[in-house]
Amino acid sequence: MKLKEVANAEDIVIVGAGIAGLATALGLHKKGVRSLVLESSPELRASGFAFGTWKNAFRALDALGIGDRIRTEHVQAQALRVFSPSTGEVAQELDLTAPGKGGPHEICCVKRDLLLRALEEELPRGTIQYASKVVSVAEEDGTIKALQLADGSILRTKVKIGCDGINSVVAKLLGLAKPSYSGRSATRGLAHYPEGHGFRPNFLQFNGHGFRSGMMPCNKTDIYWFFTFSPSDKDEGVDESPATMKQFVLSSLRGLKVPAEVLAVVERSQMSDVLVAPLRFRPPLSLVTASISRGCVCVTGDALHPMTPDLAQGGCSALEDGVILARCLGDAVLGIGSHGVEDGLGEYARIRRWRSVELIGTAYLVGLVQQSDNAFVSFLRDRVLSGVLARRLLKLADYDCGTL
Ligand SMILES: Cc1cc2nc3c(=O)[nH]c(=O)nc-3n(C[C@H](O)[C@H](O)[C@H](O)COP(=O)(O)OP(=O)(O)OC[C@H]3O[C@@H](n4cnc5c(N)ncnc54)[C@H](O)[C@@H]3O)c2cc1C
Ligand SMILES: *[C@@H]1O[C@H](CO)[C@@H](O)[C@H](O)[C@H]1NC(C)=O
Repeated sequence: MKLKEVANAEDIVIVGAGIAGLATALGLHKKGVRSLVLESSPELRASGFAFGTWKNAFRALDALGIGDRIRTEHVQAQALRVFSPSTGEVAQELDLTAPGKGGPHEICCVKRDLLLRALEEELPRGTIQYASKVVSVAEEDGTIKALQLADGSILRTKVKIGCDGINSVVAKLLGLAKPSYSGRSATRGLAHYPEGHGFRPNFLQFNGHGFRSGMMPCNKTDIYWFFTFSPSDKDEGVDESPATMKQFVLSSLRGLKVPAEVLAVVERSQMSDVLVAPLRFRPPLSLVTASISRGCVCVTGDALHPMTPDLAQGGCSALEDGVILARCLGDAVLGIGSHGVEDGLGEYARIRRWRSVELIGTAYLVGLVQQSDNAFVSFLRDRVLSGVLARRLLKLADYDCGTL
């Protein structure tokens, strides 16, 4: 493939330097296409400590050339173990290392700061422009002409890519449905053991009785965990301080018959800077007909498909988006094939539409079933559904976004 540099970096502007924005920028750069990333924060923003990273994400990271770096910095999960809340026994165990049926599976708990830094370091200096918040978008005759920044400056650009997260300005412009509140919230923590934690590298899940939670080591010294719940009036005040939030999690997990060593991890944890995150998602069916791209504008990551975290696929699918968009847009810009930029973005939208619908919908359903305290659902979950759901999870994580 013949590479040529696009003359003006400002020809392609990416809004947001999260996982989606940086993956897109790096994908384009690897194809020899320059872009400019506008980020509202003064520096990289990596809140929430870590996130579950599956085989589909590693395929995307390999395409971007940083898969092995991320692998060496983290431990691989050997098994997925789902505990039954009523008995405290293992309801479902999947060996992730076994070949066959899409295996071996690759699952890590990746530190967000390490991933963002790895992506940033591969980009040419100056690609990311910090402290640059996009506040509005100027339209003339139905086409989007320019981005207006918070400091009043106006940026004229041909291609605009919204990677600006769940409250995306660009998604709003494209008319995508407003994210809905799922009625659930999440809290997250990280436990650091300077001498090593000694836990086996397994992904543990504790679901039911109105909660859904999981825990996994990131490396030999750090363990990440999450806990989702439906806040009710009687939980009022739980999010007032890290200490009360931690006590709330501990007392809930005790009710789930969670092993003592797991409780000890929570006890010694540092809590996320976002103490309680309300879980929101874009109504999946709204995306069936939505304008994921229009003209030279499109959206990726949470700006496109915000979902509840029940599949641990929001960030992973943002990496898929980045590789596919970089391929479609990059080829269009480089004149590979006979399509223009608008067609390139249209092709990206076509590839991502049903994947987005499926991920959001499945995540919502999994959350509903796993967190339920309904007696019938719990009965089914502990006997049949936990196996079905675990296999579904692995199937969705086996997606291949292809190369750049
Ligand atoms: C509790 C919880 C647990 C999760 N667990 C997992 C998991 O285990 N696995 C997984 O894959 N995913 C997980 N996710 C989802 C994952 O965090 C998101 O899908 C992912 O961070 C989305 O990345 P993004 O780049 O699209 O958006 P963001 O991470 O939101 O990044 C958007 C960026 O754009 C910037 N920005 C926003 N607006 C503007 C603007 N107007 N101008 C300029 N810049 C702007 C922001 O500052 C930010 O840097 C979880 C989410 C939650 C809430
Ligand atoms: C685990 O990751 C953290 C940073 O994310 C780092 O400080 C620590 O040294 C790492 N531990 C090991 C054993 O690599």
